[in-house]
Amino acid sequence: MVALSRRDLAKALGASCAAGSFTGSALAAARQSTDLSFPKDFRWGCATAAYQIEGAVHEDGRGATNWDIFSHTPGRVFGGDNGDVADDSYHRYAEDTRLLKNLGVQTYRMSLAWSRIFPEGRGRPNAKGVDHYNKVVDNLLESGIEPYVTMFHWDLPAALPGGWQNRDTSRAFADYAGFMASQLSDRVKNIMTVNELRCFTDLGHKQGIHAPGLQLPDAAANQVRHHGVLAHGLAVQAIRAHAKPQTRVGIADNTTFYVPVIETPEHIAAAKKATREMNAMFLTAIMEGRYIDEYLAEAGTNAPKVLPGDMAAIGSPLDFVALNIYAPEWVRADSSPKGYSTISHIASSPHMASPWLIVGPEVAYWGIRQVSELWNPKVLYVSENGASADDPIQHGRIDDADRIMFLRNYITQFHRAVAEGYPLKGYFLWSLMDNFEWADGYSKRFGIHYVDFATQQRIPKLSAAWFKEVIARNAVV
Ligand code: FCB
Repeated sequence: MVALSRRDLAKALGASCAAGSFTGSALAAARQSTDLSFPKDFRWGCATAAYQIEGAVHEDGRGATNWDIFSHTPGRVFGGDNGDVADDSYHRYAEDTRLLKNLGVQTYRMSLAWSRIFPEGRGRPNAKGVDHYNKVVDNLLESGIEPYVTMFHWDLPAALPGGWQNRDTSRAFADYAGFMASQLSDRVKNIMTVNELRCFTDLGHKQGIHAPGLQLPDAAANQVRHHGVLAHGLAVQAIRAHAKPQTRVGIADNTTFYVPVIETPEHIAAAKKATREMNAMFLTAIMEGRYIDEYLAEAGTNAPKVLPGDMAAIGSPLDFVALNIYAPEWVRADSSPKGYSTISHIASSPHMASPWLIVGPEVAYWGIRQVSELWNPKVLYVSENGASADDPIQHGRIDDADRIMFLRNYITQFHRAVAEGYPLKGYFLWSLMDNFEWADGYSKRFGIHYVDFATQQRIPKLSAAWFKEVIARNAVV
């Protein structure tokens, strides 16, 4: 258990300072404050996603997806890489379960490939696809590892006409999610609807750097965003309708977090306001069941078309909110109409191997705190956190001290949030092993196990040994 909250510590130190010296008990309190252990019921895990690890894209009736098409389009993915083989985890899942077991994790976050279940996106389920995930889930449970299942991690069945531009896709997703909940919820107790709304909507349809590679005008792009949150909301309803009663439903979102550049009340308030407003089309809509006025005013005639019932579905209450937390946006209070402005990242802003992965461990604390203060969710998880690193093999080892540095600092900030009483209950490290990193292909490694993609050999990096120690001690080490 966390022995002392930050407030208790401040009180203890304050009292002894007033008395002119540190008393024995204040010193003991100060020492305890450096004890970075987590509550007994805190759960550690690793995360992966279907298209990034499975391979076997033509096997057992799997239908083609947007990412199959995108990655096979010349010029779209670094090095012309694709997920045809990836980590071959479709065949090697038992070996991957052994990696997890060796780490000592209690949980594993994995995603299902929609097109293995419904090759056409909808219609008749493919028994072989269902079978596969039954085997994976059973294998994890036999090893004492609890699966947390994400229904959609970006691999959209290509047969769905119009993809996310078509609102029918949201309904098709809900039907698929409800069906898989009915198949797995006797064993899978925690389900996440979609992964990272901003990525599969905006990166795919505004920036065009992810599948399907479109750069739509604002009105159409906002409509795609709406279909994304609608898919989530309809899926929450469908999962609740078809799953066993105790199933917990949530989302894995990569909310953009605005971190106060200086921890003073005015910057803290500005950062919280920024986080709410800048995520208005995603998590804010989900948690508040409406598009806030600031968003609608800014979108003007480009605002999404919303049908009766949509916002109620989108705002369906959740059992937990899970967050993928990586890079911060620094913000300061100012006298502009919004009351805040962001501070640009510059060449000297520290980052990991992926240029977008700016190192700012404070985002871990502020992300948890802001979501808690804004919307008071019952339970929070970190559904992803991790880092890309160069990972050279030297003397047969991968000594990724840089990744350990990143993780240690972020997890220390998650500890700060837990110590202050925010309801963070678990942490999933991205990722169990190197895998297909979307538009970066295999050029960016996020794993704590190195994968030799030529032989499929998995080699634990130094960070795996470090994470194992964190889990064993249930503390930052
Ligand atoms: C997240 C994705 C995940 C992985 C990590 C590095 O945005 O959800 O699939 O690519 O980034």
